[in-house]
Amino acid sequence: MRKLLVTGGAGFIGSNFIRYMLSRHSDIRITNLDKLTYAGNPDNLRDIEQDDRYRFVKGDICDADTVDPLVRDADVVLNFAAESHVDRSIGKPDDFIRTDVFGTFVLLEAARKHGVERFVQISTDEVYGSIESGLFKETDPLMPSSPYSASKAGADRLAFSYYVTYKLPVVIPRSSNNYGPYQFPEKLISLFTTNALDDKPLPIYGTGENVRDWLFVTDNCEGVEAVMERGTDGEVYNLGAGNEKNNLEITRTILRELGKPESLMTFVRDRQGHDLRYALDTTKIRSLGWEPRHSFEDGMKETVSWYRDNRRWWEKLKSGEYLEYYKSHYKREL
Ligand code: NAD
Ligand code: TYD
Repeated sequence: MRKLLVTGGAGFIGSNFIRYMLSRHSDIRITNLDKLTYAGNPDNLRDIEQDDRYRFVKGDICDADTVDPLVRDADVVLNFAAESHVDRSIGKPDDFIRTDVFGTFVLLEAARKHGVERFVQISTDEVYGSIESGLFKETDPLMPSSPYSASKAGADRLAFSYYVTYKLPVVIPRSSNNYGPYQFPEKLISLFTTNALDDKPLPIYGTGENVRDWLFVTDNCEGVEAVMERGTDGEVYNLGAGNEKNNLEITRTILRELGKPESLMTFVRDRQGHDLRYALDTTKIRSLGWEPRHSFEDGMKETVSWYRDNRRWWEKLKSGEYLEYYKSHYKREL
């Protein structure tokens, strides 16, 4: 029986990963360590909370006393926990440095002390910074440009240093932008879909020409599993679907799927230091036998219908602290 410690498993990708792993493996135990920040939501795993193979622990990855016994008991650690929203990192970087960098250090130290079969450090394509043309390879230099991506680059390289220095069996998936069910409604696709469902404006930063490579979340989960099972110690694996779309294309796709008017498109002040384009060379992960299952069209249809059918899930989130954040973030434009 394999014992996984998943951190940040109450968030978007972590919860999808836990559900994905439980649906595919019977001989598995998963402990989910999550602080339940604004982005962590127990509702994301309601359907499996009674599963005997699953256990939830509320706690902070920065707290060594909490982390130590959980890592001691685990065969594999997957560190999804992070502050993950670029806009919030621009407004207040503090928690990004604390959780993304220091929290990763605490987990690595516990893993070094107790030994693990694998330490999977979930990284991001944003560590490379922006690229005008061509594709980033795993060996390209890191030029992160937001406090978020810089904190993730710090964690990514710190994990690598534990491989080089202590021979900790670290692997590092760097995925592109994910989309799909259970994404907190502050990121482009989840925010715009839920706003459009309520006939509210869709705030497009700058000209809307910024490009991301969109990956359906369960395809990312399969990729993370491939890296965990078949990746080589100390190696980085880019994970992307090659679905390069600019924000205008994404916005129009959402409006079309929902039958909503383009008059909801609202151009607002650009994000500070807004990266123009992210794009990945995925030859290496494909050599592990991974490829995305969802086309962009199917993935978007599935995503938009999920938010349409699960209004109660996101309506709760778009209140309280969220509204305060949203109002102050967009106050000049909306
Ligand atoms: P998310 O914000 O939805 O979830 C993060 C989770 O981490 C939440 O459940 C939160 O409660 C938890 N958390 C935060 N601080 C914690 C702490 N100190 N201790 C314990 N738990 C804590 O993020 P996500 O979109 O699911 O991203 C998951 C990971 O994937 C992150 O590491 C992110 O950098 C990376 N990533 C995300 C994307 C994307 O498109 N969302 C793309 C590439 C990489
Ligand atoms: P986001 O989902 O925040 O992901 P990231 O910045 O980490 O790639 O944003 C994706 C793109 O959408 C990015 O170019 C910024 C843009 N965007 C908007 O235009 N308006 C918004 O309200 C948000 C949240 C994002």
